[in-house]
Amino acid sequence: MERFFEKLENSLKEGTIIKMTLSKPVIKNNELRNVYIKPILLKNNKMCQFVFRYERRDETKNFDAAQTMGQVRSLVPEVFQNVSLFTLTEDVTLLVSKKGKPTFMCKPVKEQRAQDLSHDHEKQRLIDPSKPWWYLLGLTTREGKVIADMQHKFKQICKYVEIVDGVMRQTKFDDEIHIADMGAGKGYLTFALYEYLTSHYDKKIVMEGVEIRHELVQKINDIIRDCGIDTRRDAMNRISTAESTIRFVQNSIADYKPSNLDVLIALHACDTATDDAILKGIRNNAKLIICAPCCHKQIRREMEKSGKTDTMTRFGIFLERQAVMITDAVRALVLEYCGYKTQVMEFIEIDNTPKNVLLVGRKSDKPVDKESIAKQIKDLLDQYGIGEHYLWKHLFREPSLRSK
Ligand SMILES: C[S@@+](CC[C@H](N)C(=O)[O-])C[C@H]1O[C@@H](n2cnc3c(N)ncnc32)[C@H](O)[C@@H]1O
Repeated sequence: MERFFEKLENSLKEGTIIKMTLSKPVIKNNELRNVYIKPILLKNNKMCQFVFRYERRDETKNFDAAQTMGQVRSLVPEVFQNVSLFTLTEDVTLLVSKKGKPTFMCKPVKEQRAQDLSHDHEKQRLIDPSKPWWYLLGLTTREGKVIADMQHKFKQICKYVEIVDGVMRQTKFDDEIHIADMGAGKGYLTFALYEYLTSHYDKKIVMEGVEIRHELVQKINDIIRDCGIDTRRDAMNRISTAESTIRFVQNSIADYKPSNLDVLIALHACDTATDDAILKGIRNNAKLIICAPCCHKQIRREMEKSGKTDTMTRFGIFLERQAVMITDAVRALVLEYCGYKTQVMEFIEIDNTPKNVLLVGRKSDKPVDKESIAKQIKDLLDQYGIGEHYLWKHLFREPSLRSK
């Protein structure tokens, strides 16, 4: 084991490390699945970037050489049984058996290798800030540089695109993909996703942003027209030869009537607007429903009205947090009830707020036990004396949905 740590220490000292992977968790279903480590240059200092890959999220941290040694020692062999270290000159492997017996292997490399010291985010330019719409949307300068105050927003948009892309790649689509972004606001994600999909998917993309505010819709449609996005095929370096389109429609989510709907997105649509969006997706048989809920007022009001607080919810802040959990848990259950395989994801790179939760429902053919799910919803609502959950109640306003 020490021979391995010696190799690691030397490669850090000499700056020859290319990458390292910690894998095979000691506990089979450990939430932390793998750790990927690579050198990066941060303000001219060589550091190691650790990507901690959990079941549903990644966490990135940077450490100097001493901290890297400490981290790896704390993880091997307690948490991971296998380590592969690749350096400019050697491939080093450490395998620790269940009984704790280490096997050390070291193989010199014959070929010439190069190091990549770039930061992950430098490589991941999912969207191109030099495109004219980013300037017109107020995210970049005229020269295409992201404005300092908008860096956070830009990062957030890239993260969303990455997540939506990951989810979409696991879904089968026909030659056209109809996407609606409900409560699209200023349209950052709508544009970003359109830009990304039209340059990475060989499909016709039909994107609609649905927004209730009239002036905003007008302004964004002007930007679309001024940039010629929906008419010029080559404006976005699309690899698709299909004629894709993007447009904004002024409508409330509840009244919006899509002609086709494959992917429904609703990011931070206020309170029950998220429920309206989910309903719209279910009613139109969307293949994918992706929402990041925000401001969970409806259930909070119901909980306050009931006066049924418990040891936790008698404290206002916990009542609020519980309202968030119940609202979104029921949304996830309703999606399952309607035949959607549902995931609740979290992305921690951005602020730690309830807005970080993402509900992803993927339409499935598998039969569901509706009775059991309905009971779970009822029990949860009863426990907190909640008279109605907007989505659950409205689902039954449309009788056909009961059998969907
Ligand atoms: C918080 S913003 C989110 C904007 C964008 N999705 C984002 O994540 O950056 C919510 C937007 O939804 C719009 N909105 C709220 N309720 C709506 C409804 N029922 N129908 C359509 N749009 C709605 C608001 O006008 C606002 O622009």
